[in-house]
Amino acid sequence: MCGIVGYIGEKSPKEVLYSGLSKLEYRGYDSAGISILGKEQEIQTYKSVGKLANLREVLKGVEVSGHIGIGHTRWATHGVPSTKNSHPHNSKSNKLSLVHNGIIENYAELREELVNKGYEFLSDTDTEVIVHLLDANFTGNLVESVFKILPILEGAYAIGVISSDEPDLLVAARKGSPLVIGLGENEKYIASDVPAILEYTNRVIFLEDGDVASLKQDEIKIWDLEKNEKSTEETEIEWDLEAAEKGGYEYFTLKEIHEQPRVIAETLKGKIKGNSAIIEEMTLTKEELENITKIHMVACGTSYHAALVGKAIIEQELRIPVEVEVASEFRYKNPIINKTDLVILISQSGETADTLAGLREAKKSGAKAIGIINVMGSTISREADGTIYTNAGLEIGVASTKAFIAQLIALYILTLYLGEKKNILDDKRRNYIVENLKKLPNMVEKVLDIEEDIKLKTRVLDSARSSMFIGRNMNTAIAYEGALKLKEISYIHAEGYQSGELKHGPIAMISEECPLIAIATKSDTYEKVKSNIEEVRARSGKILALATLGDEEISKISDEVIYLPEIDELFSPVINVVPLQFIAYYAAINRGLDVDKPRNLAKSVTVE
Ligand code: M6R
Repeated sequence: MCGIVGYIGEKSPKEVLYSGLSKLEYRGYDSAGISILGKEQEIQTYKSVGKLANLREVLKGVEVSGHIGIGHTRWATHGVPSTKNSHPHNSKSNKLSLVHNGIIENYAELREELVNKGYEFLSDTDTEVIVHLLDANFTGNLVESVFKILPILEGAYAIGVISSDEPDLLVAARKGSPLVIGLGENEKYIASDVPAILEYTNRVIFLEDGDVASLKQDEIKIWDLEKNEKSTEETEIEWDLEAAEKGGYEYFTLKEIHEQPRVIAETLKGKIKGNSAIIEEMTLTKEELENITKIHMVACGTSYHAALVGKAIIEQELRIPVEVEVASEFRYKNPIINKTDLVILISQSGETADTLAGLREAKKSGAKAIGIINVMGSTISREADGTIYTNAGLEIGVASTKAFIAQLIALYILTLYLGEKKNILDDKRRNYIVENLKKLPNMVEKVLDIEEDIKLKTRVLDSARSSMFIGRNMNTAIAYEGALKLKEISYIHAEGYQSGELKHGPIAMISEECPLIAIATKSDTYEKVKSNIEEVRARSGKILALATLGDEEISKISDEVIYLPEIDELFSPVINVVPLQFIAYYAAINRGLDVDKPRNLAKSVTVE
């Protein structure tokens, strides 16, 4: 959702900014741009539409010297992707240059006021109002001027700004959109996300909402919006740079699918002892845990699907009612949350604006809210009452794969934890759950081993214009997830349904051009799913089934079968999602698409 980066120091800003943007491109790739300022120079700005490679072409052969700069990769919200709408945006005098991530909700009024004052707008963006507003309020002191305008801005922002009047200063501020500061020897960085600067430093400061930072090569100051200077809390990041490289795979998405056995093991590591779950980050007291009678889960997209699987697991194992809500709906529906309820926010990035708003809404009710989060230090993890980290490592592919599997594992761990603390699961059941969890890395490895077979069977989608995914009970949400993955990266229309629901309408879609992908692995409802497949077969639909190894029956009623290792239905989502990820991946590859950067999407959605 737009990526911003900034640098002040002795290195070449052109190189640092470009490299940072290349790591942030997954956040948006509609256009990109940089502004650079030298000690005795004007601000120089370069922009291009489309992916970052186009900016490289623009910069080729251009000698850009300087020691301070800002860069931006855009995911369009206001104004189409075009050069004029790309960031950075500069003041008319070219004294100020600014990059922004977020949405300024009152931009229309501000724009009108500025136009009345004689400001001319060159773009259709909400961002341009910020730079003109800054210009209109400029006192000659950049920090002071930024403080003057921030209270006027409604909505969300992370900004980086430079001024030719103060060529030794980079100013940053955030409210609602993430921003991190990187610390080097006699140099500073800003970025939307840690990977952008990991090549240069692993020492960072996560800015809080309302923070304003002034960065010089050898000095850093941070204030809150009331201008109280704050002490800086440095964090050392453990992710290594390798995580941000493709490691021989054609796409990050494929690399991340292959990392899943390790991710499962990493997420389990240190969290299971004997038949108990250890969640050190859980800050709820014994009494609070005992009092929980209802759980709410709030998330978006793939994380929402993980929540749906979590509901199925928890309700089956613990008989605690779980309500799952899409985060963008949750805060506006005046949710009924009691003080004794537990609210769980699930998010890979920990920055999704809707999920963050859900957390804040939940906290108003006085209930405890915990996060299941992948990115350490992210806003949700800092604001929640506790966080279970998923340890999937850096996920770069826009289509979430390994983070989803890690979320599922965290939900099993949470089930085990609550089951023990609330005396719901006896020793025998806990032993059983732990035994199965430990088997999962190896079982997922077995699915990775049949990648070539899955790739071949993906051909069922070659002439598809649409597709249906079905699953039941534990696997309903896996059908939704399979459909979302396919839509996201192959642009083949796909719908996920509960198997039994197909006959109530969606079956009308089945045709040569709309194959069925059925999750028909062994389960309590296996026979029912088989009947649902038969119903499609009777209408000459093409069928690709996921089935359990040794199941001969399914091959008689399906065109293609992908055989998967046998596991208890409770854990089957972890196994069944993997072939669906491969199907989406190879469907996209077969259509010659850029898997890591699907059109219209961004990795981290930090606007509402
Ligand atoms: O970072 P989050 O998990 O909060 O992101 C939520 C969704 O935006 C995300 O899962 C999105 O649906 C992915 N592109 C799915 O592959």
